[in-house]
Parts: sequence; C-alpha cells; structure tokens
Amino acid sequence: MRVYLDNAATTPLDPAVMQEMCKVMENTYGNPSSIHAHGREARTLIERSRKTIANLLHTSPSEIFFTSSGTEADNTAIRCGIIDHGIKHAITSKIEHHAVIHTFEALEKAGVIKLSFVNVDAKGNIDYEHLDHCDTVQTMGHYKHDLSKLKAHFVVCSAHKLHGPKGVGFLHVSHRIKIKPLIYGGAQERNMRGGTENIYGIVGLAKSLEIAYAEMEQHQQHIQGLKTYMKEQLAETIPGVEFNGETDPDKSLYTVLNVSFPEMEMADMLLFNLDIAGISASGGSACSSGSDIGSHVLTAIGTNPSRPSVRFSFSKYTTKEEIDYTVAKVREFCMVNA
Ligand SMILES: Cc1ncc(COP(=O)(O)O)c(C=O)c1O
Repeated sequence: MRVYLDNAATTPLDPAVMQEMCKVMENTYGNPSSIHAHGREARTLIERSRKTIANLLHTSPSEIFFTSSGTEADNTAIRCGIIDHGIKHAITSKIEHHAVIHTFEALEKAGVIKLSFVNVDAKGNIDYEHLDHCDTVQTMGHYKHDLSKLKAHFVVCSAHKLHGPKGVGFLHVSHRIKIKPLIYGGAQERNMRGGTENIYGIVGLAKSLEIAYAEMEQHQQHIQGLKTYMKEQLAETIPGVEFNGETDPDKSLYTVLNVSFPEMEMADMLLFNLDIAGISASGGSACSSGSDIGSHVLTAIGTNPSRPSVRFSFSKYTTKEEIDYTVAKVREFCMVNA
C-alpha cells in the first residue's frame, strides 16, 4: 500500500485539471503577446482564467497577476511593497514559510528594513489584524476567500497546493496599493511581470480553483472528518501522544495534523520507517517532505525537540483505510521503540 499524507507539500493533479491542460497543450501554442490569431487565442485563455479566478475570489481581474509560484508571489509582495513604499520597519512572524522569512531577512541584511517578529502563542496563533500581507498559499482552494472584504494588500496562491500544476501561482495586489515589478522584461501581466506566460499552468490553476470552490464544503467535511478521526485514533492507541499547534477545527487548517510522539529510541528513524511501510509524510512543518526544513515553525512555538514530530496532511483523495493503515504502522513503531 502507498499512502500519501504530505498534501501540505504538494497535492496530486486532479485528472480534470490535467485534461484541461492537455487540451491547451495540444491546440494552443501561440505567444499570448502576438497580435495574430494564434496569439489572440492564447491571450483569450489567460484572460478567461484570470476572470474565473477573480469571480471566485470576489475581486477584479485587474488585481490578479500570474507568477511562477507562491514563492515568487511572496517575494514580489514583500520586496516591492517594502522598496516601492519606502518602508523602513517590517513585521512578520517566525512561523511563516521560508519564502516569506528569508525574503524579509535578505532585506534586513541589505539594510533596507528593521525586522520585528510578532509574538505567536504555543498553538501558533498570531494576531492577523496587525499584518498587511498575507501568505495564503496553504488556504487558497481550501477556504472561500472574499477578497472584496479582506483588508490585506497582498494575497498569494500556488496551484500545486490545490490539485493544480506546479510552477504557477498568482499574486493579488489590492487596488489600494501600487507596486513596481519584481521581474522586468516584456509588457506581460500589464507591465507587472516580464516573461512569456505559462498558458497551460494558468489554465490549470483556474480549473483547479474552480473545482476546489465547486466541491469545497464536501471536501472540507471529508478531510476534517479524517483529521479528527486520525487524532482520536492516535490519542486512543499511543500513550503520551500530543498534537503540535492549534487543533480546534474553527482555528486550524483542516488539512494538517502535526503529531508529537513520546520520546523513544530510534526516534529519528520514524519517518524513514513510515516511508518503508509505504507512507509519505513530513517531519517538518513547511513544504519540504522528508526534511526538517520546516522545523523552524515548531521551534518558534516552543515544541519539545526531543519528541519526534510528524506532519500528516490530507486531501480530498485521502481515505479512511489509509488513515487506519498509517495509525497501525505508527503505533507498531512506537510500541517496538518505547
Ligand atoms: C505557506 C507557503 N508559502 C509559500 C510556499 C511556496 O509556494 P511554491 O511552492 O509555489 O513556491 C509554500 C509551499 O511551498 C507554502 O506552504
């Protein structure tokens, strides 16, 4: 059995998204900047995708800028927001993705800003009202964002987190703020991001968001149900198990369960053992499966480093049988090494 429980790192492509992308790959190869019919056909697909996304998020297509990734969207928002507006003091939190933290740190190192960190509690809760940027990579397609009501200047998305393709995302820049590009070149994306557009990716991104919105309640219920079930099963069968961060369904991401296991022998072999048993999960808390690159988040919320932590993250494709199998394998490992 192969079980994929690392959906926070990336999600499998939805077959309907792949089908839509393949149609474009087969039939549309014009450069969207060309004014002839081939180019216009590609341009139409991009603008149609932009409109689909804008409608779903209750915003204007003119505020959506396609990027190569969530990382590029984060970099653009932070670097250009700070530099173009002469910001001298920035605030972030220690539980952000490295696409956010490292960008701020680079600006601090270059002497552009003074950097402060907002406090987070032991469950990873922060006061979002104090922040004007918003790394929504893990929530896009999982929650309904109404950007007409959101006060954030910037919102970001990465398609591969919601069963879309890798290598494409977008940055939403509110009308209330103006920034210059991060990537200079041609006049693409209304002069905001040079580079020939990733047409297939953009079409796939729009399709994946469309599917996510159409099926959201049903998937949220399914995934939250599995998360609660796994939490209960682990708590019942493994003495001393705890959970890192907030787990209240109203306050935490329903796609992720971060588990803190009791101290045991061979603790650093737990993930490896799960992999051998066919289970893919992550030791960190960011996007890097199988590495502890994301553990800066667990450190920031003060988790005990001698207890092994595993991040299990679920998707609409995860099944109860997969959870049962995973709990049994984890339990087996904990019993043998207790
Ligand atoms: C919160 C968060 N921000 C940013 C990113 C980066 O997105 P991408 O993989 O598209 O560069 C990720 C995941 O990789 C993420 O989880």
